[in-house]
Amino acid sequence: MKDYTGLPSATLVTIGCLLGGIAPGYAGPHQEAPPTTQGTAVEPAPTPPAVAPAPAAPAPRKEPQAKAPAPRGEYQAKGPPAVPKHFRGKYLDLVKMALTDLLYENDTGAIEARKAGTDWPSRALTMVGLKRLDNVQMCAENVLLHKVPGDFIEAGVWRGGATILMKAILKEYGDPSRVVWVADSFEGLPAPDAEKYPVDKGLGFLHEEQALTASLPDVRANFERFGLLDDRVRFLKGWFKDTLHKAPIKRLAVLRLDGDMYESTMDTLIPLYPKLSPGGYCIVDDYFNLEAQRKAVDDYRREHGITEPIKKIDWAGAYWQKRK
Ligand SMILES: C[S@@+](CC[C@H](N)C(=O)[O-])C[C@H]1O[C@@H](n2cnc3c(N)ncnc32)[C@H](O)[C@@H]1O
Repeated sequence: MKDYTGLPSATLVTIGCLLGGIAPGYAGPHQEAPPTTQGTAVEPAPTPPAVAPAPAAPAPRKEPQAKAPAPRGEYQAKGPPAVPKHFRGKYLDLVKMALTDLLYENDTGAIEARKAGTDWPSRALTMVGLKRLDNVQMCAENVLLHKVPGDFIEAGVWRGGATILMKAILKEYGDPSRVVWVADSFEGLPAPDAEKYPVDKGLGFLHEEQALTASLPDVRANFERFGLLDDRVRFLKGWFKDTLHKAPIKRLAVLRLDGDMYESTMDTLIPLYPKLSPGGYCIVDDYFNLEAQRKAVDDYRREHGITEPIKKIDWAGAYWQKRK
């Protein structure tokens, strides 16, 4: 594991200023009360200590050495090896700002929309706003901290942003084994089957919306840009009803649903919820925003006697923690 504690303090200060300056008013993810399970409080992920590097000792004089020639060819981002403790949170804050395109957006209205996750952005890699990304982080960090077994999945990834964040969290914590499953048609939403799922009837516009389509090569490339593509990122291409029940997933610790429609939500819950470990999290991106998704979740919960309280993330999203 690489140790950055010896970085010159000027470098640390520069990074600190950058991270402090990119998100005015953005206080990071650890504001929510920790979820409880059967009366047992689950500790929130620890807030990273403020960066306070010890003054650097004068570096010992080194004899100049012949440098090996720099490799030529395409630059390949390697991503962080495993982020040292004093950068924890800061790296992920920066990833979230990049995923939401808040690093480079100048328009005030667009900035507000991106923070709240209320638009279909032209460049951002996720349409999920900061609170819902913070929620992904909170859930992922809790299962890592409490060693809840299982992989992470999002069903309905669009350009991949929320799953890129999941992978960044695993990288940050140096997790050696969990897989991030990236499930999507990569061709947009299905046409509604109004006879079978009447509540989806009015959602034909989602099927016709080209802006809701992101291709598999593009999503792979998005992981690569962050240096986060490896063999523990697995893509499940196709309609959920065809892919999820036969996917080689053994256990899940984080299950995120973002397929918008009743059909897509049911086609995810039926094969995957039974695989969610006790202590794991089920996250529903549009529970308060889309009646179709809410009804699918409510129907599934009722049919399976799920009584864990649903918690609000923001104007759209909800989640619950599966009981031990
Ligand atoms: C609202 S977008 C997801 C947004 C994404 N989670 C983000 O972070 O920005 C919905 C996605 O779900 C996918 N989708 C919806 N229903 C599906 C289904 N039944 N099978 C496969 N993909 C589906 C669409 O292709 C689309 O990419």
